[in-house]
Amino acid sequence: MDTNQIELEFKTRFGTSPTIFSSPGRINIIGEHTDYNEGFVLPASIDKVILVAIDKRNDQEVHLYSIKYKESFSTHLSAIKPAEKQWASYILGVVHELQKLGLSFSGFNLVLDGDVPDGAGLSSSAALACATTYALNEIFKLKLEKLKMVQISQKAEHNFIGVMCGIMDQFASMFGKKDHAIRLDCKTLAYTYVPVNIEGYKFVLFNSNVKHNLANSAYNDRREACLKGVALIHEKYAGVNSLRDANLQMLDECVKTKDLAIYNKCKFVVEEIERVQLACTDLKNNNLKSLGKRMYETHEGLSKVYEVSCQELDFLVDAVKPNRAVLGARMMGGGFGGCTINLVKEDAIEELTKELTVLYKQEFGLDLTSYIVKIGDGSQLIKKPN
Ligand code: GLA
Repeated sequence: MDTNQIELEFKTRFGTSPTIFSSPGRINIIGEHTDYNEGFVLPASIDKVILVAIDKRNDQEVHLYSIKYKESFSTHLSAIKPAEKQWASYILGVVHELQKLGLSFSGFNLVLDGDVPDGAGLSSSAALACATTYALNEIFKLKLEKLKMVQISQKAEHNFIGVMCGIMDQFASMFGKKDHAIRLDCKTLAYTYVPVNIEGYKFVLFNSNVKHNLANSAYNDRREACLKGVALIHEKYAGVNSLRDANLQMLDECVKTKDLAIYNKCKFVVEEIERVQLACTDLKNNNLKSLGKRMYETHEGLSKVYEVSCQELDFLVDAVKPNRAVLGARMMGGGFGGCTINLVKEDAIEELTKELTVLYKQEFGLDLTSYIVKIGDGSQLIKKPN
């Protein structure tokens, strides 16, 4: 993304030359709602980013400006708390986490810009938190390792936004690598880069352009349900501390008869964790048909069993299913809106997009936006001060 505008804005507002950092949004090929259950995920960072331009101040004040929202926010390091403006809360949440670690730094000026669409399930907020953490770490020489920065960014969301998100989005935004997906074990945090060689095909995102209100509370509810399931299994199998450690036999034995709703949610997660492993093998073997089939299975589970889809996303998946050029499709991310991710034959993308745009408009009166995924690098310094 071009840095001229953010640089100019910063200089005009604050009169100094900033350092500019970028953190990307992410896709997730497969492995949904598995991260907070210590399972596997397969995300990748994309070429859409959040930019942060920043410079130190000589006092303890924090001055923020968002180009997108045309809003500013100022505070003092001694008064860091969640703000009404959510974009500011992500930045302040990071500051708060750094303060809790006893790190010392002065005030700063920060301007924010980006081209990751909001509410599209591409983790613009994780990108914002990561960009902030990365930037503060660099300019104040805090010497934090990347993984620590990921955890700080995640905690900022827990504590200042109230969404008990897993680690996937921040991890992908920090560790992303061009043309690779990240196979992340959310239990050990060990990861490997998996080349995304899908010759003749592309991942295409169709943005439903809806984000239902339910999203945050439902997310936390699902997390609770999984924890309850684990607690029931733990009574009998003391070694089970997450759904990663559980299997279907344990669920049948300990959860099914006690709470069917929780059983179903847990069953989806256990199966999805397994599916990520198998999907990684598919990708390695270039078996895109099989990978696509698993994507459809994931959607079915997220929609019918885990119940985090919505009619717009279901429509977008159902509508592409009969098309033989589409090997797989599913809703992506937390749910209740945002994008579907589709594995589509390259020469059929244009036609498919046109058709789907018309169908979606007819059905919901809404515009469909689409985006052909390019996998870019993770968080990085983009430009030093002049
Ligand atoms: C959101 C969360 C992630 C993950 C996904 C679902 O994007 O931030 O941690 O749980 O939902 O897979």
